[in-house]
Amino acid sequence: MLKIQKTNIKTQILQVNPTNPEFKKIQTAAKIIQKGGLVAFPTETVYGLGANALNPNAVSTLFKTKNRPLDNPPIIHIANTNQAYQLTEEIPQNAETLMNQFWPGPLTLIFKRSKTTTLPKETTTNLNTIALRIPNNNIALALIKQSNTPIAAPSANLSGNPSPTTAQHVYDDLADKIDAIIDGGPTNIGVESTVLDLSVNPPQLLRPGGTPFENIQTILPNATLHPFATSEQELTTIKHTPSPGMMHKHYAPNAQMLLIDGSLQNIITKITTLSKQYSSEGKKVGILTTDETKNEYPQTYTIKSMGSRSNINLIANQLFNKLREFNKTPVEIILAESIPLDGLGLAVMNRLRKASGYHIIKT
Ligand code: TXA
Ligand code: MG
Repeated sequence: MLKIQKTNIKTQILQVNPTNPEFKKIQTAAKIIQKGGLVAFPTETVYGLGANALNPNAVSTLFKTKNRPLDNPPIIHIANTNQAYQLTEEIPQNAETLMNQFWPGPLTLIFKRSKTTTLPKETTTNLNTIALRIPNNNIALALIKQSNTPIAAPSANLSGNPSPTTAQHVYDDLADKIDAIIDGGPTNIGVESTVLDLSVNPPQLLRPGGTPFENIQTILPNATLHPFATSEQELTTIKHTPSPGMMHKHYAPNAQMLLIDGSLQNIITKITTLSKQYSSEGKKVGILTTDETKNEYPQTYTIKSMGSRSNINLIANQLFNKLREFNKTPVEIILAESIPLDGLGLAVMNRLRKASGYHIIKT
C-alpha cells in the first residue's frame, strides 16, 4: 500500500515583487525563520530553502525535509560583509578583493570558521570551515536582514533532483512539507553559485557555477579547478573530499540520460543514430538540444531546446527547467548535446555530466 507521510503543514505562498519586495510579506516570512520554520526564497541563481543557521532544530528539519545526506553542509546566506567577519576565523586579503568585486553575487566562499561565534554542528556538519555568500536578489537580501540572522539555505529541491528555478519547481518538490514559498518569479542565472575554497592555498574551485572561473582568475591567477569541477567520470577514489556535496547523486531527471560530446556535426550524427536505435527498441526518446540544432532531428521525438548556442547564459538559465520539463513527459531516455566549456558552459557541462550519471559518449 502507498505510504503517505502526513504533515500538518500547509505551505503558504507569498507573491512578492522582486524589485521592491513588500515589507509585510517579507516580515511574515522572516517571522517563520525566527520561529524555526522553513521558507523557500528566490536568489539570483536558484531558489533556496532557508532556515535560521543558528537554530539546530530548524537546520535538522531542513535536512530531513530535503532528504539531504547529513554530511553535506548548507551555504550560509548573509546580507553584509560584517556577518562574514563575525562567522569566520580570518578573511585573507585576496578574499576581500573577491568580496568587493563579486558580492552580492553568485560566488560562495569557503573560509575557516570562527571558533568563538558558535554555529551549531547541525549547520557546519562538524567541519571547521563554512561556506558563505551574499545573494544578489532583493527578496533574499530583505529576508536575511528582516530575519536578523544568517540563513542556511541549500537549493530548495528534494535531494538528487534538479535545482528549482521557479516557485512552481519548489512547490512540485516540497508542497506541504515547508512553511512558506516566496514566489519572486524565475531566477536570473539558473545554475547555482560557484563554490571557491579559500581555506586552502592555492584557492580551489570546488563547484563551477554562476561566476565563471575566468572571472575569478582575473583576481586570483593561481586559483585551481578541483578535479570534481571538471571530471568526466565519477570520482570515488579521492580520499579527502573537500566538498561533500560533490560526491552525492545530483540533478538527475527521471529518465536515463546520455551526454554526447564531440564536434557539433558528430554530436548530431550520433544522436540521430542513437535515437533511431532506442526508438526501434520501443523506448520513448527525448533530445536535449539547442536552437541551432533542434531541427536536425525528427520531430516525432520529444525535443527540448535550452536556447541559442550564441548565448550560453540563456542555456544555463533554462537547463534545470528543461530537465524538469522532461519529468512531465513519458520520455524514457534523454540524449543530451554537449556545449562548449567557456564561461557558464563549465557549470552547465558539470551539471549535465552529473545528470547523466557520467554516461558520456565521446564522438
Ligand atoms: O546558488 C547556490 O549556491 C544555491 C542558492 C540557494 O544560494 N545554493 C546551493 O546550495 O546550491 P547547495 O546546498 O545545494 O550546495 C552547496 C554546496 C554543496 O556542494 C556543499 O557540499 C558545498 O556547497 N559546501 C557547503 N559548505 C561547505 C564547506 N564548509 N566546505 C566545502 N563545501 C561546502
Ligand atoms: Mg543543491
